[in-house]
Amino acid sequence: MTLEPSELLAAAVSARERAYAPYSNFSVGAALVAADGRIFAGFNVENASYGLSMCAERVAIYHALCQGVRQVEAIAVTGPDGVRTTPCGACRQVLHEFGPGMRVIFADGGRVRVVPLSSLLPDAFGPADLAAAPSPSCELPGDAR
Ligand code: THU
Repeated sequence: MTLEPSELLAAAVSARERAYAPYSNFSVGAALVAADGRIFAGFNVENASYGLSMCAERVAIYHALCQGVRQVEAIAVTGPDGVRTTPCGACRQVLHEFGPGMRVIFADGGRVRVVPLSSLLPDAFGPADLAAAPSPSCELPGDAR
């Protein structure tokens, strides 16, 4: 990535300004760089039906997917000032689908940290595991056809 991690983090900080988080008041911004170099941003979008809220990272990923991206190189995430914010477990799994080798960038006590996604989601389950299955998953056990 020719882009500096701090630049991607700055894009996440900018996206965070547009977050819709009236219930938690915990605004999050994310920005990712795709394999083709394009940058896409996202922010958390909450809902009065709380469980429907969507994290910033997944909004950024889905934003990128809508524009044809299938491979992500790195994602930066930022929460409220001074609060170290890393992707939640659900987001880690979704990120893995589109870039198991991606790097995750976040601020940690005034430092910019860059860590591999695999360190946040070790031994992840992903598309390669489905491909490794010996038979179609719709086949029933003992199916004699
Ligand atoms: N949130 C994110 O957007 N990303 C994360 O990785 C952590 C949590 C959002 C979800 C919810 O809108 C708010 O932060 C509080 O959990």
